[in-house]
Amino acid sequence: MKTLTVDLGERSYPIFIGSELVERAELFSEYIAGKQVCIVTNDTVAKLYLAGLEQALSDASREVHSVVLPDGEQYKNLETLNLIFDELLQQRFNRSVTLIALGGGVIGDMTGFAAACYQRGVNFIQIPTTLLSMVDSSVGGKTGVNHPLGKNMIGAFYQPQAVVADVAVLKTLPPRELAAGVAEVIKYGLICDYEFFEWLEANIARVMAGDVDALAYCIERSCQNKAQVVAQDEREGGIRAILNLGHTFGHAIETAQGYGAWLHGEAVGAGMVMALDLSQRMGLISQADLSRAVTLIKRANLPVVAPADMTETQFFELMSVDKKVQDGRLRLVLLNSLGEAFVTSDIDRSLLSQTIGACR
Ligand code: NAD
Ligand code: GLY
Repeated sequence: MKTLTVDLGERSYPIFIGSELVERAELFSEYIAGKQVCIVTNDTVAKLYLAGLEQALSDASREVHSVVLPDGEQYKNLETLNLIFDELLQQRFNRSVTLIALGGGVIGDMTGFAAACYQRGVNFIQIPTTLLSMVDSSVGGKTGVNHPLGKNMIGAFYQPQAVVADVAVLKTLPPRELAAGVAEVIKYGLICDYEFFEWLEANIARVMAGDVDALAYCIERSCQNKAQVVAQDEREGGIRAILNLGHTFGHAIETAQGYGAWLHGEAVGAGMVMALDLSQRMGLISQADLSRAVTLIKRANLPVVAPADMTETQFFELMSVDKKVQDGRLRLVLLNSLGEAFVTSDIDRSLLSQTIGACR
């Protein structure tokens, strides 16, 4: 097992990465302060891993309760969030309760937000069960829900007490979900880790085949990169925005198609191609580098174009509600080279139109 640390002073926390960790309660018992535990999961993950976790946590001195939410991005909203509060209140859980998120990014984001809000803040632990949530959403403290007018628009920065990434649970993950996670893995190579990008070019077939060692390496390297960025800029005042490469385009795709139609990672895959296409049109990266990145994204079975039915107007409208917009000006993450991203509002509108036209 590997242990990394997200270094945030008194709010620092460990990320445990290994195999068969979900049932090793001694790993995370130390992060459960009180006697009350509430596991939040969904009806898919519950069938696979809830009993094992409940069993591991069972202890005569502990009160363990579970909330099983409906599965899907379309349920990542305030209405479903309220089901968590209903349960916590019905069970009379107090401020010493620890919430445990057992699931992918949807469960992790909602549980974290519930933890941030319940009685003005209680402890929580992330047990991510998708590749995407292990390499990205469980680390860094972004929590929240969607609004019909924008993705992840209601939320809070709220850090967990610990993250437990158990590579063994990925064996049940559907291939399309694995690919969606690989989009965020490739993102780290593109934004800040050229050596990792090259490793991915050489090893993408192993990753896509579910090779446990290759996946564990991807999780470790991705979390190292993410932890470093988050430690520098927890609340996204600056550098953290590079973690959103492709996301402004991607969120527009997800919102336009209806939450859940395109997986988040799929939208990020096509969105990263759009960001790189624009970087190439602006003379920042070469056509050869663009082609290398597109080839890798394609080999990860991800879409490299946006839906053909999306109009330019739709893109501009949806991109204008992005969280990076400042004083009405769109800001995008672009690349200076493979492995080096930056954020800019200096965007040539006609080149952006060309990118939207070319990438559908
Ligand atoms: P998800 O949570 O919807 O999980 C994908 C699917 O896999 C679901 O059907 C789930 O039930 C199923 N599943 C989960 N674990 C499984 C397992 N081990 N075996 C079989 N099936 C399993 O999707 P996701 O890709 O994990 O997360 C996407 C969400 O994460 C989006 O809402 C996105 O906005 C959010 N996100 C947040 C951050 C952040 O920093 N907080 C970063 C990236 C993405
Ligand atoms: N997924 C982007 C971030 O955590 O900042």
